[in-house]
Amino acid sequence: MLRLSKTFAALVIAAPFVAAQSAVWGQCGGTGWTGPTTCAAGSTCAYSNDYYSRELCIVPCLRAHILTTSTWRKLRMHPRIATSTSTGSASLPSGTSTAKLNTLATGNGKVYFGSATDNPELTDTAYVAILSDNTMFGQITPGNSWKWDATEPTQGTFTFTAGDAILDLAQANGQLLRGHNCVWYNQLPSWVSSGTLSASELESAMVNHCTTLLTHYKGGTYSFDIVNEPFNDDGTWRTDVFYNELNTTYVPTVLTAARAADPSTKLYINEYNLEYASGKSASMLSLVKSLLADDVPLDGIGFQGHLIVGQVPTSIQSQMEAFTALGVEVAITELDIRMTLPATEALYEQQKTDYQNVIAACQAVDGCVGVTIWDYTDKYSWVPSTFSGQGAACPWDSNLVIKPAFDGIVAGMSA
Ligand code: G3I
Repeated sequence: MLRLSKTFAALVIAAPFVAAQSAVWGQCGGTGWTGPTTCAAGSTCAYSNDYYSRELCIVPCLRAHILTTSTWRKLRMHPRIATSTSTGSASLPSGTSTAKLNTLATGNGKVYFGSATDNPELTDTAYVAILSDNTMFGQITPGNSWKWDATEPTQGTFTFTAGDAILDLAQANGQLLRGHNCVWYNQLPSWVSSGTLSASELESAMVNHCTTLLTHYKGGTYSFDIVNEPFNDDGTWRTDVFYNELNTTYVPTVLTAARAADPSTKLYINEYNLEYASGKSASMLSLVKSLLADDVPLDGIGFQGHLIVGQVPTSIQSQMEAFTALGVEVAITELDIRMTLPATEALYEQQKTDYQNVIAACQAVDGCVGVTIWDYTDKYSWVPSTFSGQGAACPWDSNLVIKPAFDGIVAGMSA
């Protein structure tokens, strides 16, 4: 909630001009701030956020409206505030629904509707304000800061400062957390990925890493991606350092260690391209069967859901049901639906339909506990940096304005 610091604002108005000024919407004060504390003409310095002690240069006539989605629409129209048009969204339609996604999801029997986030984004107060609305997002996932390279860059030396900021945010907001992740071929520190550890050293390092990570966050997560992306698309095992040295045994070993470290969190294997029948989804089904038959602890399968506009499989519901029939829950864990840029009205409309269909698939499956979008805004999507010429994959545009895709999500939940 916005609170104008009256004393500070009065000081700013009375103070003589000093060398540096913050631009409209720039930071001008707050805990630890050493930059300029005066604002550009027409704006004043105001306290902006209860979670981060920051003060921003705000146009006075607008300050009462700050930090709501609808206000961002108003701010975009205000001539004093420059906004990015990186997706060319100015000429494209916005969403119209005023629904709150987590409220809708939980009202329809789901555990949460959530979003991924990442530490660098948490200095963006307008972004954090939307993320922190637990009627919109009842769950968050750390996009990077719980991964192995971030938490144990040097063997045996753990750093949880960035990871804890995500935990603190979720707890301050009253949101669930999905832990992400424990064992993955990517974003490994070189001491693991280089292959210089012997099999027994690697197994013990893996067990120590996951045990320490889950113990640190014990009781703090709803679920945790323990194994991420173990298969190639053709269903063969991914030949990463874990498979190469430990064969398939690394999966039951790390799941067992995870259960021992935090018996309260749901243990997931998370994978992309499970949304249609393929060698990969067949191998995942076989793995789940065999782990459960061996009494290995496993609670859920994550369907990542990195999809393409106009190419969303119609088989998502049946694919989920194939897993829930085995006795595990499922979740859509990293949903985004990308398009080839530039975005057009037609692509936005197709994206709306696509989002609706994915959400409706989860809605139709009792064992699908929730959907997490892989960040809610195009401003912070991973897509453009990975898929050249593609983007606009999220339900909020890069100006934090809802797109027709948002209305599609609402429609999918109401199906
Ligand atoms: O940490 C370094 C930083 O030190 C450096 O200055 C900066 C310069 O580019 O790079 C930083 O690392 C980046 C990292 O994100 C943290 O920001 C990497 O370059 C970048 O490649 C990495 O991208 C992440 C990607 O996983 C890596 O594969 C994305 O943000 C993250 O959203 C994405 O998430 C994955 C899920 O974990 C698993 N499923 C697929 C999904 C999308 O790829």
